Amino acid sequence: MAGFSETDGILYAEGVSLARIADATGTPSYVYSASRMLENLQTLRGAFDEVLPVESSPLIAYACKHNTSMSVLSLFARAGTGLDTVSGGEIEKGLASGIKGRDIVFSGVGKTDAEIGLALKHDVLMFAESRPEIERIAALAKAKGVKGRVGLRYNPDVAADTHAKISTGKKENKFGLPAGEIETIYRLASQDPHLQAEGLSVHIGSQIMDLAPFRAAFERLAGMVRALRAAGLRVEITDLGGGLGVPYNGEAPPCLKTYAQIIRDTILPLGTRIIVEPGRLLTADAGLLLTRVLFVKETETKKFLILDAGMSELLRPALYGAYHPVVPLARRTGKEEPYDIVGPICESSDVFGENRMMPPMQAGDLVAVMVAGAMGMTMASAYNTRPLPPEILVSGDRFATVRQRQTVQDIMKTETVPDWITD
Ligand code: LLP
Repeated sequence: MAGFSETDGILYAEGVSLARIADATGTPSYVYSASRMLENLQTLRGAFDEVLPVESSPLIAYACKHNTSMSVLSLFARAGTGLDTVSGGEIEKGLASGIKGRDIVFSGVGKTDAEIGLALKHDVLMFAESRPEIERIAALAKAKGVKGRVGLRYNPDVAADTHAKISTGKKENKFGLPAGEIETIYRLASQDPHLQAEGLSVHIGSQIMDLAPFRAAFERLAGMVRALRAAGLRVEITDLGGGLGVPYNGEAPPCLKTYAQIIRDTILPLGTRIIVEPGRLLTADAGLLLTRVLFVKETETKKFLILDAGMSELLRPALYGAYHPVVPLARRTGKEEPYDIVGPICESSDVFGENRMMPPMQAGDLVAVMVAGAMGMTMASAYNTRPLPPEILVSGDRFATVRQRQTVQDIMKTETVPDWITD
């Protein structure tokens, strides 16, 4: 069974009970289902296969900012994905997992010389987001005597109905280049002997449940490709970004077949090589944060469930007000009551949920914070000097700790106190 499910009141990750994992690794811990990740990939591929001709099947470049576990990267590498990256670190991890540089794309408004150098070395396709960036890539490619593969990220000025902090496709956002600047800069890149201009990308935001903004963005992208070609420029690649949302609270997910049909209607006629960059879709529901109740604190007005995980492990609720289901592992009988579920961090925003109805809870109970396989561990920090949690990967009846729990010694070992303080 892929993913997480309940049998006879016991919550399982595939074939392994979560209580067993908690016994083995302690809490808090991230737990991932390998089969669920592969199933999510297969579902997307299936939608493409159903709608698009096989020779135009998009390269699925997994947006690894969501989950950069080496095991997750290796799983996707073996399943034949490419990779969407936003830093030299992500490129290095992607290469180490076996993904070829030519299947890696590199986005982001602020690439350093070292990162550009790494991308040039491995033939990674860089999507530039400004004229100075294109000029910098050209200068570094010239210095190295190579030809840099570049594209431009187009900002289509399309609003996606999502959280303001994860919306990227409006002209007020820092991302991409406006319609009026694309042709000049694309021509510059096309004419530069040290650059190979490959195409355009768009990415309008993340956690988008309504497909209409995708259609609008892809139509504008197609219009831009046609305009560039009409001006005599070569455009071989269209990268459609990511953005497909997942249900966190029972919402209807976007229909992947319809998404594929939108690509067929808008992008397929261009005859370009198509890239998509899903991230959340592949990993979100394949992960959870396993945590334990430290205390049940009753005040005059509320019952607080105080967990041993907080915003240092899973930042999304505190940062975006994001909803994550919180599921008790043992369902005690008795009347359900409203709990405010909080972490131990010294911040009032360290709250996983308010007034969540739960059966009677006790200290020591295990609790799973669901849909945490995307942007859980990658946004975690050691705030309050809390060592980062381990990551556990489950596949069938097997599980492995694929990242050890950090220790306080790990945290301190990169620090030094100068002797002019201690002497
Ligand atoms: N491509 C680019 C250029 C991106 O910036 C992103 C996400 C993706 C692809 C993947 O998008 P997806 O298919 O996963 O929606 N920390 C936030 C999400 C930030 C997403 C940033 N970029 C969160 O926890 O919701």
